[in-house]
Amino acid sequence: MQTVRIPKVINFGENALGETEYPKNALIVTTVPPELSDKWIARMGIQDYMLYDQVKPEPSIDDVNAVISQFKDKNPSVLIGLGGGSSMDVVKYAAPEMKKEKILIPTTFGTGAEMTTYCVLKFDGKKKLLREDRFLADMAVVDSYFMDGTPEQVIKNSVCDACAQATEGYDSKLGNDLTRTLCKQAFEILYDAIMNDKPENYPYGSMLSGMGFGNCSTTLGHALSYVFSNEGVPHGYSLSSCTTVAHKHNKSIFYDRFKEAMDKLGFDKLELKADVSEAADVVMTDKGHLDPNPIPISKDDVVKCLEDIKAGNL
Ligand SMILES: [Fe+2]
Repeated sequence: MQTVRIPKVINFGENALGETEYPKNALIVTTVPPELSDKWIARMGIQDYMLYDQVKPEPSIDDVNAVISQFKDKNPSVLIGLGGGSSMDVVKYAAPEMKKEKILIPTTFGTGAEMTTYCVLKFDGKKKLLREDRFLADMAVVDSYFMDGTPEQVIKNSVCDACAQATEGYDSKLGNDLTRTLCKQAFEILYDAIMNDKPENYPYGSMLSGMGFGNCSTTLGHALSYVFSNEGVPHGYSLSSCTTVAHKHNKSIFYDRFKEAMDKLGFDKLELKADVSEAADVVMTDKGHLDPNPIPISKDDVVKCLEDIKAGNL
């Protein structure tokens, strides 16, 4: 048997944000200041709601507990995570604790987090990646409206992440026919959008990518990327080289078109400050990404990949 879990209801496309009906007395959870959230909330057309906008970036379980203790007695009808990953992660964890349903509305795209059972929170100062069925959204609302005003560089990094997740997800040993269908279609849409200048299609492609890889995993490209993340390189940017090299190593069917899409977006060569052998040791500990890689990976393979990335030999 194979299983794929996705939100019960997915509203997407033009004006999904405004046309979705939101229950009365919802609790909106966000990280952004009122200048921005007021604009978003007006666009949602939601009238009767409560707002919590004190979520910090890279939130911890303390942020979750703050929401619960402040709003448990106010009995919200539903929790709405409105924002980037931080707002959604807090709602993913808090809503089931409060026995409430959750609506996730990503204002950034790329990770596909609104589609997945993943939740990233800090516990005792350490970031943890959790995965539980209860973190899945009851409803997701995906609208390209939020892309207006997003800096070009952020959009580029985000679409790169979505492409990497779709293609690594397709190759994952944890995948099945349905995840591969979703991942393949996600990449087709993203590739077409990149090559033919249709950025308004990025959020939809990214959503499909989340539905696909969220039900299997990413692989070698993401494993390689974390040593660059540790040196402060943005996630999407690091994947522009890491996933390209990983696809070459894995002989992925996506290698040529992935590389072509990255060339079109235009990314600089990556630098790695750490010693390659030491960095490779760190990568080798990432069993969560390496075990589902389509072919077995040795430390020598990782060293070669990292050297290729450093040399710009993609
Ligand atoms: Fe990613």
